[in-house]
Amino acid sequence: MDYKKYIAERLHAEGVSAEEIAALIVCPPDPAMGDYALPCFKLAKTLRRNPTEIARTLQDSFAADAVVEKAEAAGGYLNFTLCRAGMVGDILRKILSEGDRYGASDAGMGRVVCIDYSSVNIAKRFHIGHLSTTVLGAALYRIMNFLGYKAVGINHLGDYGTQFGKLISAYKRWGDREEIERQGVAALNDIYVRWHREAETHPEMEDEARAYFKKIEEKDPECLALFDWFKELTMKDVAKIYDLLDVHFDSYAGESFYSDKMAPVVEELREKGLLKESRGAQIVDLEEYGMPPCIILKKDGSSLYATRDMAAAIYRKNTYDFYKCLYVVAYQQNLHFKQFFKVLELMGKPWAKDLVHVAYGMVSLEEGAMSTRKGNVVFLEDVIDKCIEKAYAVVSEKNPDLENKEDVAKKVGVGAVIFGALYNSKIKDIVFSYDKVLNFEGETSVYVQYTCARANSVLQKAGKAEEYAVPRTVGNEEFELAKSLESFPETVLAAAEKYEPCLIARLCVDIAQKFNKFYFGCKILTAETPALKNFRLALTRATLQTLTNALALLGIGVPEKM
Ligand code: ARG
Repeated sequence: MDYKKYIAERLHAEGVSAEEIAALIVCPPDPAMGDYALPCFKLAKTLRRNPTEIARTLQDSFAADAVVEKAEAAGGYLNFTLCRAGMVGDILRKILSEGDRYGASDAGMGRVVCIDYSSVNIAKRFHIGHLSTTVLGAALYRIMNFLGYKAVGINHLGDYGTQFGKLISAYKRWGDREEIERQGVAALNDIYVRWHREAETHPEMEDEARAYFKKIEEKDPECLALFDWFKELTMKDVAKIYDLLDVHFDSYAGESFYSDKMAPVVEELREKGLLKESRGAQIVDLEEYGMPPCIILKKDGSSLYATRDMAAAIYRKNTYDFYKCLYVVAYQQNLHFKQFFKVLELMGKPWAKDLVHVAYGMVSLEEGAMSTRKGNVVFLEDVIDKCIEKAYAVVSEKNPDLENKEDVAKKVGVGAVIFGALYNSKIKDIVFSYDKVLNFEGETSVYVQYTCARANSVLQKAGKAEEYAVPRTVGNEEFELAKSLESFPETVLAAAEKYEPCLIARLCVDIAQKFNKFYFGCKILTAETPALKNFRLALTRATLQTLTNALALLGIGVPEKM
């Protein structure tokens, strides 16, 4: 229930709409002042009276009911106290009956949302730069499905370009098949680096690489087989990470998939008079829109990243008839997306407005946190492994007798990586710190998971769930916790609307904090009466359910014990 709206509709002020009043209502920082408050200062001008008077008049005309117990004027504020028992009863009933569907809805009405995320590059190791897109995209995928959309996860593989010609050239020179099979992408990377080093003094290697790339394009069996093998090796490498993070895709149609789908796009651009020649290249001029031109074909007739993205967008519209198509890609590519979205708009595609670049900031590692295997590239697998290892140490220290420590450490370690990447607004750059993400007392998934384990332990000691009733007077700790649980469904909606899974992560921490205040402030198993005990157990069960649902949306599991 939207209490702000409910209250606003019960207040009558000449010339001010209920929406305007609802927008003014706030939650006072001190619950002793009431659950909601209307500051009357902004109304003074319209109503031509002073705020104190307005508050008093509104109080006199307000009729208390089963939802709002009382309205009380205090200076320029009108404070409202909700009927706690009724409200808490509603929330508990809802959570406990809906179970793992609590927070879900059919708001999406089956509409398709394509989500382009992770989109790794072939023959490159999965590095920390692809962490955010992977976990953000996967969270949005789960959130959209939870809200009744039909999410289509697309891994737009980076599998096109002369670099693959270089790789074939390198492999033919120094490649050792068995060695590469054994070491995977790391070995491919080694020969690729070597190729670049040698090409500095042997520029003719560039021509060789171009020729090999052309052969891939022409589907020469030998080159194509090598290219497919590189792809296979890469996918084997990333599959390990996707498994750990529980990330899935419905399509792996990457850049090369569009090789034969670009010509019609170029043709359409030409027909519509949008193509212009510029120094031999074919471009779409975007000067009018304050952007550099979007290059469609290079001088030698080869396509570009943008050309393939345009073909991909058109293909996705035709194939999935999406309601929205999201691109979860770093903000460094802002211009690229703005440009090709604009070109599609100029082509007269009405759905160009449904393309959304969900941009995010950079992730770097705290100085000295890890020595990398090579240079300054930080491999994601190493980060996850190290987090699991550290989680094992932290968990063992906290609870040496814990059973299946490995499983717990995996859930905790992987959770810490995901939560660490999702906790802040996506556009912010983040500095990843092992100690920070694994802190039991911080704003972390470990803290939330530990809270769940605490709730679980209480529930296990209590045994079978009994009937409960909400007592007439609900204490502050209980009420604050219930209010926080109640905001989960609206938070999921907001996360989808703003493409901000961090809102869910933040609510998890808020609920955990409120639960711990309740846990330490109220006796649960040793409550004064059996009725009170059952009510508090119901509140504990509802907390565990809400946190489990919330963490699941982020891709984080909940260990039973910790
Ligand atoms: N492979 C690209 C990269 O690593 C990201 C691709 C994003 N998706 C897209 N449709 N452009 O930078």
